[in-house]
Amino acid sequence: MKVVCTEKSQVLGSKVAKALDLPFVYSQFKAFPDGELYLKTGSLDGETLLVSSTADNESLVQLLLMIDACDASDITLVLPYMGYARQDKRFNDGEPVSGRAVARALSAGVSRVITVNIHESTVLSHFRVPAADITLAPEMAAWIRGLGCDEPLILAPDKGAARFAADIAKIGGWETDHLSKTRLSGEEVRIAPSTVDAGGRDIVITDDIISTGGTLATAAGMLKEGGARSVHAACVHGVFASGGFARLASAGLASVAASDTIESAASAYSAAEMIAAAVRK
Ligand code: R5P
Repeated sequence: MKVVCTEKSQVLGSKVAKALDLPFVYSQFKAFPDGELYLKTGSLDGETLLVSSTADNESLVQLLLMIDACDASDITLVLPYMGYARQDKRFNDGEPVSGRAVARALSAGVSRVITVNIHESTVLSHFRVPAADITLAPEMAAWIRGLGCDEPLILAPDKGAARFAADIAKIGGWETDHLSKTRLSGEEVRIAPSTVDAGGRDIVITDDIISTGGTLATAAGMLKEGGARSVHAACVHGVFASGGFARLASAGLASVAASDTIESAASAYSAAEMIAAAVRK
């Protein structure tokens, strides 16, 4: 088996190859003058492990091209971050189920799929090949332990994220709770007055995705008003759209951390070992 990746997953891809002690194949990426994408990968044969997040449309097209370039091989596709998975149903008439459209498109040419903390697990059923999700709860728990907080409260910003927060809290033996969020627009949310006693506590808000940072900035503001000693933010997928990281930094969060499913300077823990373990299985 050889490991190959698309352009924006090159650090994670190389770490996965190292963790599995597999050859890592170098690929070239370019764009034609009209903007169409081009890539050329090194020699692949037999089995291929393809690591590619699709955090933006270019990465999604690169991935489609890469699957075609790997034509002759048996491909295990690792989607550390799967874009479009948040549109997991038709919210209004005339809309696509975007997660389904992407899952179907990516199924053509691969043998199996591994995702990492996919936003909505029902999307897995839209792949036309076996698909399984893995969680970075252990990595995030290790990072939280490293903060050295005194009995941190692991807080989910909404009910949908409560299970993930509970998984992390269980690993560390910490207390957990959740807030109640209503989304007002793509960037704004309302969080209901909380019964969480934040007074004097170190709080880590955990979520699968930080996109615009609206959710966590609102939650952090409320917790600080409630007397929290410190508020940290930790997520799996640091999308940081529309200045999301800066929004959080300016909201007075003590730290903002993400994994390398989307590679950035905020990547504080890696998905590589968990992906390698899933591939070994
Ligand atoms: C939504 O349910 C997700 O779990 C995140 O809470 C959401 O994507 C965060 O978005 P934003 O950072 O734009 O508030």
